[in-house]
Amino acid sequence: MKILLIGASGTVGQAVYQELAHDHEIITAGPNQADLKVDISDPASIKQLFENAGKIDAVISTTGQVHFAPLSDMNHENYQIGLDSKLMGQINLVLIGQHYLNDGGSFTLISGIINHDPIPAGSAAATVNGALDSFVLAASTELPRGLRVNIVSPTMLEEAVEKYGPAFKGYKPVPGKDVALAFRKSVDGLQTGRVFKVGY
Ligand SMILES: NC(=O)c1ccc[n+]([C@@H]2O[C@H](COP(=O)([O-])OP(=O)(O)OC[C@H]3O[C@@H](n4cnc5c(N)ncnc54)[C@H](OP(=O)(O)O)[C@@H]3O)[C@@H](O)[C@H]2O)c1
Repeated sequence: MKILLIGASGTVGQAVYQELAHDHEIITAGPNQADLKVDISDPASIKQLFENAGKIDAVISTTGQVHFAPLSDMNHENYQIGLDSKLMGQINLVLIGQHYLNDGGSFTLISGIINHDPIPAGSAAATVNGALDSFVLAASTELPRGLRVNIVSPTMLEEAVEKYGPAFKGYKPVPGKDVALAFRKSVDGLQTGRVFKVGY
């Protein structure tokens, strides 16, 4: 399959790349070091990405920014970061990408554990993750031409403990290769509308 992987240089993206690269053709996309440039917070940039990528069979997103801060410090602008990037960025990959994918193609997005098991300062991330999980359930019922959409919801990766460990005290990390397997299940399988939880 020809797969467009957005966020390939990141912690999750690297694990997914390593899992899938040996038996799929992967085109990487991101704001810096990638085959194709994209800023997922900009719908025009996403449209240009699909124009540049040509016909593809699967889209994987392992990206999306969210602002972390205590609820008492959060404001409208802080929330808007996650809404524009992780939430609408990934939703726009589906809204725009549905017109470019080959018949039977798939989208696999990313959310995370926090909407099920909240951490301090994680309210915006929890809100966005919950909205994404709901979007996938609903969008899967309407996608045309046999297109599928799933989402992977991991706990913290082992590879991210140095960065996120202090925020996830008491959470057991999961190997990145286990998270990558959930992406493989989505891409190579037939399921749709699913939230694949990993590590919890
Ligand atoms: N790490 C974890 O343990 C974990 C667990 C659960 C869920 N998640 C979720 O998984 C997602 C990725 O996390 P991560 O830890 O892998 O992040 P990361 O290591 O910071 O990587 C982020 C990736 O997104 C790309 N990117 C940044 N801004 C972008 C933009 N505007 N448009 C398109 N791509 C952009 C980055 O590209 P550049 O390198 O070029 O900047 C990089 O490839 C996040 O939404 C996070 O909440 C992560």
